[in-house]
This record gives sequence, structure tokens and C-alpha cells, in this order.
Amino acid sequence: MTVSWDPAAYLAFDDHRSRPFQDLLSRIGATAPRRVVDLGCGPGHLTGLLTARWPAAEVEALDSSPEMVAATRDRGLPARLADVRDWRPGPSDDVVVTNAVLQWVPGHRALLAEWVGLLPAGGWFAVQVPGNLGSPSHTLIRELLASPSWRGLVEPRAELGVHTPAEYADTLGEAGARTDVWETTYLHRLDGPDPVLAWVTGTALRPVRAALDDDEWDRFRAELAPRLRAAYPARADGTTWLPFRRIFAVAHLA
Ligand SMILES: C[S@@+](CC[C@H](N)C(=O)[O-])C[C@H]1O[C@@H](n2cnc3c(N)ncnc32)[C@H](O)[C@@H]1O
Repeated sequence: MTVSWDPAAYLAFDDHRSRPFQDLLSRIGATAPRRVVDLGCGPGHLTGLLTARWPAAEVEALDSSPEMVAATRDRGLPARLADVRDWRPGPSDDVVVTNAVLQWVPGHRALLAEWVGLLPAGGWFAVQVPGNLGSPSHTLIRELLASPSWRGLVEPRAELGVHTPAEYADTLGEAGARTDVWETTYLHRLDGPDPVLAWVTGTALRPVRAALDDDEWDRFRAELAPRLRAAYPARADGTTWLPFRRIFAVAHLA
């Protein structure tokens, strides 16, 4: 089953989702990279930050979603349709960034080791993955999918997975890089009714949406909404806190 991405739904929380990318970029020390690669570029709004930081560099952006590649190209940025698993660094790829992508790629630790081992001398590899798969925003979806009325309708999300910060540090260090690994829990203040439902609609709920017809999708969201509201209650001023843990790793080949 192909699960498509909706650039507009994803960009609905643009401001919140760009902050980790900026924090990741701030730890890359490259001054004049020849090529900069964005693996899993999404709608390209963050790829634009790469071209702004290194205007002289050639930028390569790739993504496996035709919708995301089209959205990136609409911004005037070069993007191509490709699976990150088929990509390997070239001799001028001085900076490689992959932000909020590898949680969708099983076995990505082995890929990271291979990628970093192929980087040119002085190269940088920067990765960020969400570390919130055990949070109510995700466990409530899994619990509902496992309930009698939904069981069997959507395949379990066995492919989603991330590792601990120490495991990323070990993987990158064993590949010969100096590592800078950390985790942060952002506290996003969201507006509007059911904002956590809207947030996961653009990401974690995509496979659910793809598996259900329109009526089932409306019913699923109607059952999920009160659960999310209870886990993430609206505050007196109508806003809602969404804590969101993320894991960062920057590797540098000295
Ligand atoms: C959560 S979005 C992140 C997009 C962008 N990097 C950002 O930070 O806004 C995840 C992106 O990864 C892409 N993706 C997932 N698996 C992929 C794969 N195996 N190869 C290429 N792109 C992939 C999706 O199509 C989607 O655009």
C-alpha cells in the first residue's frame, strides 16, 4: 500500500516543525561545503534554509513522495524522486541532512554507518528523529487500532522505529566520526480545537487514512479525538501543550 503525504497538512505546523531543523543545523560547522544533500526533503521549506545558509553550495534534495517532490520543486528547488535507501554519498557531499525521516526507514542504523563511512574527509552528517513514539499521541492511535472495532483494518506500524541517543552515538562513532548527540523535549503550544489530532493527521495517521474509506476515516477520527483531548487537555486560554521529544545526532569526519 502506498501512503501518500499531504504537503499542506504537514505544513500546518510549519513553525513548530522547523525549530528542530534549525537546532540541528546550528551544530553543523561546515563553512563552504561543495554539495549539501537533504535526504527526505518533504515539502522543501527546510531545504530552503540549507540554500540560505550555504548559497554557494550545490543542493540535492530527494524524497520518495511524488507530492513532496512536487511541492519542493514548486519552491524553485531541485528535488528528485528517490528512496533514501538507494542513496550513497558522492565525493563532494560535504553536508548531508536528514530531518524527521529515518523513523520511517527500518534498519537505518546500518545505513547511517555506511553513509558516514562513505563521506568525504571533513564531511558532516546530521540526523534528527522523533523520540515520541511512546507518547499518548502515538500510543492512543495504536490502542484504538487494536480495539475490536478497528482491529485488522490497518496493518500494524512495524516499520516505525528509532534508537536511543547512545545507540546513534555508538553507530556514528564506530563509523569513524566525531559525534554530537542530544535529545530535547519541545513544548509546543498549539491553537484551535483538537490541535493534536490535526498534528498527527499530517504524519502518524497517514497510513490509517490510506487504509480507510471516507466514512471509516471520519468515525476513526471521532473516536480518537476525545482520547487525545483527555491526554492533552485544552488550557483555560484555549491553547494546548504538546510535549514532543526529539533525538539529534551530528557526525563529523575530521
Ligand atoms: C516528516 S516528513 C519530513 C520532511 C522534511 N525533512 C522536514 O523536516 O520537514 C518525512 C519525509 O520523509 C519522506 N520519506 C519517508 N521514507 C522515505 C524514504 N525511504 N526515502 C525517501 N524519503 C522518505 C516522506 O516522503 C516525507 O516527505
